Amino acid sequence: MPGKVAKIGSFSDWVGLFDDWRKEIGVNQDDVSSFHFDTLYGAVETGDIQFGSYKGRTKWENLRQVPTQQMRDALMNMIVYQGDTEFASVEQQRNLFESAPSDWDRRALTRVMIEEMRHGWQMCALLIDFFGSSGKVEAQKMLERRAFENKRLLGTFNVDIDNWLDFFTYTDFVDRDGKFQLQMLKYSSFAPLGRSTSYMLREEAFHMGTGNDGLRRVVEAGVIPRWLMQKYLNKWISSSYDLFGTDHSSSAHWAYVWGIKGRYDEPQNQETADLDDLNDYNRHLYSETWREEVLYSPHAVQPEHWTMGREEVPLRNRGATR
Ligand SMILES: [Fe+2]
Ligand SMILES: [Fe+2]
Repeated sequence: MPGKVAKIGSFSDWVGLFDDWRKEIGVNQDDVSSFHFDTLYGAVETGDIQFGSYKGRTKWENLRQVPTQQMRDALMNMIVYQGDTEFASVEQQRNLFESAPSDWDRRALTRVMIEEMRHGWQMCALLIDFFGSSGKVEAQKMLERRAFENKRLLGTFNVDIDNWLDFFTYTDFVDRDGKFQLQMLKYSSFAPLGRSTSYMLREEAFHMGTGNDGLRRVVEAGVIPRWLMQKYLNKWISSSYDLFGTDHSSSAHWAYVWGIKGRYDEPQNQETADLDDLNDYNRHLYSETWREEVLYSPHAVQPEHWTMGREEVPLRNRGATR
């Protein structure tokens, strides 16, 4: 919305909007309202930029050090998209409390939702602390869009999650995509963004585990027909592939050149990046990882329980996403 003026002056003003948002979407039960949200920065492996044109220079600590406006815009956009997915997932999951299969599941859901709120909080703290008035406007808009009004920035995050099979499949696969996106941002030339991802990544592991454990229990219970499980797997695995973005993406190209977002395996990968193929490269790594961790882990859902073979997950149109 061009020309929009922020009604927030400081982060504590934004916290007021965040409190209103929790109440409005109906997730502010005791566990959530009493939780102390915090901005958490961890360590990054190196203070030097690890890839792209600025490789070897010191990572940027503030916006003034980022060389061009285009780069500042790309960086802000990246943070806005990441934050939008975090709040959106809470909106998607907001109706599941009443139908939790057990108290354990209800507690796991509460923890997942609190952590997603904290991730959104973290991204908004970056926007407000580092991106001036446009960052404040974006942090405000982040709490004005709604998944259930189809207003979130990426299609996957506007879809309702209205039952627990949906939730388990979503957390196993879409949160796994979240882990990939955060890992790629962990190497960012903008140090505060890289530092933001450490705690988020730890929290993301719990979300994936919740999904994987839930799917295992569903399979073991043997009540849900296989065709129905297949339907949910197809829905969220194809969505997760979409989230890697379009093939031959110029924004992925420039984000790499500018050191803003690396490849998932950046520190171990000695090959020169193919700038025309970054999204598909990361998508393939994702595909290999879920096959290893989900299909072939001794603790996870085993392939003989699934109707799908290795080639059976359809790729939807890799439509305009990132
Ligand atoms: Fe998250
Ligand atoms: Fe998550």
